[in-house]
Amino acid sequence: MRKPWAGLGLDLHLELSAGPGVRAGLEDALREAVRSGRLPPGTRLPSSRALAADLGLARGTVSQTYEQLVAEGYLTSRPGSGTCVAVLPGPVPEPARAEPVTRPPRRAGSESLETIGFDLRPGLPDLSSFPRAGWLAATRRVLGSAPNAAFGYGPWQGHLELRETLAEYLGRARGVVTTPERVVVCAGFGQALAQVGMVLHHEDARVVGVEEPFLPEYVRDLRRAGFGVRPIPVDDEGLRVAELAATPADAMLVTPAHQYPLGVTLSPRRRADLVAWADRTGGLIIEDDYDGEFRYDRQPVGALQGLHPDRIIYGGTTSKSLAPGLRLAWLALPARHADALRALGADADPAVSVIDQLVLADLIRSGELDRHLRRARLRYRRRRDRVATALAADLPDLRLSGIAAGLQTVILLPEDGPSEAEVVASVNGRGVAIDGVSGYYASPGRSPRGLVLGYATPAEHGFEPALRALVTALIPLYR
Ligand SMILES: Cc1ncc(COP(=O)(O)O)c(C=O)c1O
Repeated sequence: MRKPWAGLGLDLHLELSAGPGVRAGLEDALREAVRSGRLPPGTRLPSSRALAADLGLARGTVSQTYEQLVAEGYLTSRPGSGTCVAVLPGPVPEPARAEPVTRPPRRAGSESLETIGFDLRPGLPDLSSFPRAGWLAATRRVLGSAPNAAFGYGPWQGHLELRETLAEYLGRARGVVTTPERVVVCAGFGQALAQVGMVLHHEDARVVGVEEPFLPEYVRDLRRAGFGVRPIPVDDEGLRVAELAATPADAMLVTPAHQYPLGVTLSPRRRADLVAWADRTGGLIIEDDYDGEFRYDRQPVGALQGLHPDRIIYGGTTSKSLAPGLRLAWLALPARHADALRALGADADPAVSVIDQLVLADLIRSGELDRHLRRARLRYRRRRDRVATALAADLPDLRLSGIAAGLQTVILLPEDGPSEAEVVASVNGRGVAIDGVSGYYASPGRSPRGLVLGYATPAEHGFEPALRALVTALIPLYR
């Protein structure tokens, strides 16, 4: 049977005061809601029948209340358009306070900037290029076909459909060797790292190596999870594995495809050395493949995981390929770790919306993610080329690191020029937000002088002006 309030369309919260006169109480509650602006002018109220059913009152009580308030000018009533809140005469209500402009949280922050004209900090893809139409179409398909069970809690490890899709996609696009049973869906790589922490504790691991420079949040999270953290230097070939071998690290967190933030790629030799380290010591490798889809000059470098699926925990995310707001990431674990994690997490609730998981699975299966990535790759490659040509033309003393892939590059500053802090302050002073690279080092003394340029951050129309503003701010410092 159709519920009496079905089609109501508006959930009306009314505090009915206790005491004599139900109708008087309803009138007061409605007057208060209109006066305070909680019900803005133009709001269409539920039909008297629906509101009566909702509040457990007689329909006549509600109709009489509506009539009374129409007479008082609080409401208007027109045949065909129902009962609406009237525009009240009198002082213009104070406008709702504008929400403070929240800037996206950053993986590594420069101090908050008062006036930001342009944002070239790393950490975000171009949010304006999110494939809204593709996501919407996939959502429609999912909502049209998902069984009712999809609206339940879903398995903690992630919906099977997404895990199957990811296992196939990661094999095809990134060379990851895995099965749906070994995939765990997580709310971002940050949460994935917390899951990895559970596995590491389970294995009695105490010390985790991280590349230096590194993402400060990850070191903080690993420390909070009770691990000792050893920063291991990075050079032009990536992680210096020989220095890792000299530490008591039980596990190593690496970004092999595109070191964060320097952008170097782990060389084939170092890849082999790292895998040999894991075999020799029983150490575990945690691969953060955060932007592996974006490689510009040749075929993407496959995931390290494919070299030794039994010793490497692979992590990926949609935060660069689609949008960090989705909070959708995944792990592909060695079988024994997947089993351990399942046992440890079996009683937990899933961290990611099941519907969003199904939408992502549809987006991948329909080929829409691949199409989006092809477009995004082209756009970011053009931007990267623009950065390189602008610097070569106007600032020939500055070099770029890590431009072959990813969404960020480091502008290396000459050691005999102004300090990094002076350059950052000067650029910020021109309204351009940018990070210095030293904030990514455990000991800033070891850092080169540099600026981490997130060239994907601006929207397409804002990129060229942002780059121009940056170059214009740098020219007087290096001429
Ligand atoms: C090095 C690195 N790994 C992973 C991520 C993605 O993290 P998440 O999936 O939690 O957004 C980022 C995002 O900024 C990153 O910089």
